[in-house]
Amino acid sequence: MEKFIIRGGNVLKGEVNISGAKNAAVAIIPAVLLADGPCRIENVPDVSDVGILAAILSEMGAKVDFVDKNTLEIDPRPVDTHVVPSELGRKMRGSYYFIGALLSRYSRAEAPLPGGCDFGVRPIDQHLKGFEALGCTYNVKENAQIEVSSDNLKGANIYLDMVTVGATINIMLAAVKAKGLTIIENAAREPHIVDVANFLNTMGANISGAGTDTIKIRGVQHLKGVTYSVIPDQIEAGTYMVAAAATGGDVLIKNVTPKHLESISAKLEEMGVRVDEYDDAVRVSRTGPLKKCNVKTMPHPGFPTDMQPQIGVLLSIANGTSILNENVWENRFRYVEELKRMGARITVNGRIAVFEGVKELKGGPVKAVDLRAGAAMIIAGLIAKGTTSVEDIRHIQRGYEDIVGKLTKLGADIYLQKKPDSKEANVG
Ligand code: EPU
Repeated sequence: MEKFIIRGGNVLKGEVNISGAKNAAVAIIPAVLLADGPCRIENVPDVSDVGILAAILSEMGAKVDFVDKNTLEIDPRPVDTHVVPSELGRKMRGSYYFIGALLSRYSRAEAPLPGGCDFGVRPIDQHLKGFEALGCTYNVKENAQIEVSSDNLKGANIYLDMVTVGATINIMLAAVKAKGLTIIENAAREPHIVDVANFLNTMGANISGAGTDTIKIRGVQHLKGVTYSVIPDQIEAGTYMVAAAATGGDVLIKNVTPKHLESISAKLEEMGVRVDEYDDAVRVSRTGPLKKCNVKTMPHPGFPTDMQPQIGVLLSIANGTSILNENVWENRFRYVEELKRMGARITVNGRIAVFEGVKELKGGPVKAVDLRAGAAMIIAGLIAKGTTSVEDIRHIQRGYEDIVGKLTKLGADIYLQKKPDSKEANVG
């Protein structure tokens, strides 16, 4: 079993380049199905979720070429099925974006019920509510594939019961070619929603209001193939910001949109970390102690839930008692047990975790229980005394491009252990 092995104690210094946003790419790649011609997608992160989506499109008949590790050329014209292959589709939650895209292309879609990171119940009722409003019916088949279809996709007013990224994007995809006007109210406002809307508009769609809570989509008949570059990954950037702060380092984080990082910068500053903003970079440095801080996750522009485990590591070594309130997912504190094994003092009660700062963490064997939890374990390993081994790294590889290479360049002592070796005996 592959593991990351980290010897803690090194201070991160230097520069790191942030990759394209995973959560934008996982929607943009299925959205290519709407084009009448080939698309070239640039700044695609080299992560396993992108590989899975490329494989799905390829199995559906599209011509898919990685021009280089971050540039994908896709010709969707040869696709002749509305069915997402179940084995591949089941490997990632984002494959549900094929439903919206296939509805636009064929007025019908069949895809596996979504999987993904385990944060408790992850329903798709709001996606289905939106599809129904657009004139679709759906049923779940025996093989756990969901089938959605319509005779006549028609624009509608849709008020989402909660702010959801997935439903906002999926309804946007399904409505792009629907007749008339669709209005999504209480829409999510994450940067990747704006990016997907920009991609669709570049192809010829008529979407306005993305980035606000009301998105208007006027149906068009054709979308053309385009070249498009994915925005920088807000969460990858935030992860390196926290890693720099945790190690007491000084890191210039390049190829970012500082505006997207404001909620993260604000919390770091509250904790005594220095954050300098440039046009497309942020510099994060810390010399003094970390101060306690309360954090509540919220939909954008609030503090992102996808940064919750990483900031949790910082709170675990801050002076005093901090409160972390997870407001988006029902159960996103599974990493806490792993962090406690490294010496953190944390009590979880429902959606609230209380962190009593400790002086130091101790290295040991831990698991990446999901993608961001895995990133948090790496940060914990960077500051812990001794050696940390992180198992189940496939979760991390879903969303972080070359994390070992990037951290090594910053001075971290981390490597990928492919097979158990003698060094493992020293872990602990
Ligand atoms: N929800 C419903 N019904 C729905 C949809 C969502 O009740 O039909 C609830 C969820 O259970 C959750 C909340 O609404 O409590 C928000 O869910 P949302 O739909 O926004 O999440 P998602 O689209 O499934 C995306 C990201 C997640 C990120 C969330 C929130 C992708 C592929 N995933 O998930 O990213 O946590 O938005 O920002 O874009 C990650 O990257 O580590 C990750 C998990």
